[in-house]
Amino acid sequence: MLAPASIVPPRTPAEWAAYYALRYAVLRQPWQQPVGSERTPADDEPDTVHALLLATGPAAPAALAVGMLQRLTGRQGQVRFMAVAPAAAGRGLGSQVLKYLEAQARTVGLAEIVLHARETAVAFYERHGYAVVEPSHTLFGVLPHFLMRKAL
Ligand SMILES: CC(C)(COP(=O)(O)OP(=O)(O)OC[C@H]1O[C@@H](n2cnc3c(N)ncnc32)[C@H](O)[C@@H]1OP(=O)(O)O)[C@@H](O)C(=O)NCCC(=O)NCCS
Repeated sequence: MLAPASIVPPRTPAEWAAYYALRYAVLRQPWQQPVGSERTPADDEPDTVHALLLATGPAAPAALAVGMLQRLTGRQGQVRFMAVAPAAAGRGLGSQVLKYLEAQARTVGLAEIVLHARETAVAFYERHGYAVVEPSHTLFGVLPHFLMRKAL
């Protein structure tokens, strides 16, 4: 099992590649989505925060957990693209990434976070104080999502 390092924003080309590779592997590839579908124009917005938890060690960077915070308004942010490597799930890494993004949101003065959670992840976010607002979209025709929110 790879040991986690601390959470950082991706910096080098290799770290960015590891970041997007985990997004793709967890959130897109299982539904046969094309490479590139794991990216969004919001990734490049100056206010967007990217969180990357790398495995330690001398090998090429490997991502264990990732997440992104997009600023929607002066008071509201959206957490997106949360993903933990299957081999590292259930060890608190998703929680670490979410707490990091929430701390970043507070630092820039956001008062609320919203997100669209997969049905299978709703309980994870509930443990972190998020409440379901309403059902939202169904991704790829098969993955129901729920709009959730949390006041910071
Ligand atoms: C959902 C996900 C981000 C959670 O990350 P994780 O590192 O596995 O979760 P943690 O180990 O930090 O779990 C924190 C708590 O939530 C619970 N939990 C985690 N995933 C859960 C799930 N899918 N359903 C219910 N509870 C869950 C854990 O049991 C734990 O509870 P505890 O504090 O009482 O022990 C991760 O499993 C994942 O990437 N899943 C697939 C992709 C996905 O659904 N992403 C979210 C898209 S909206």
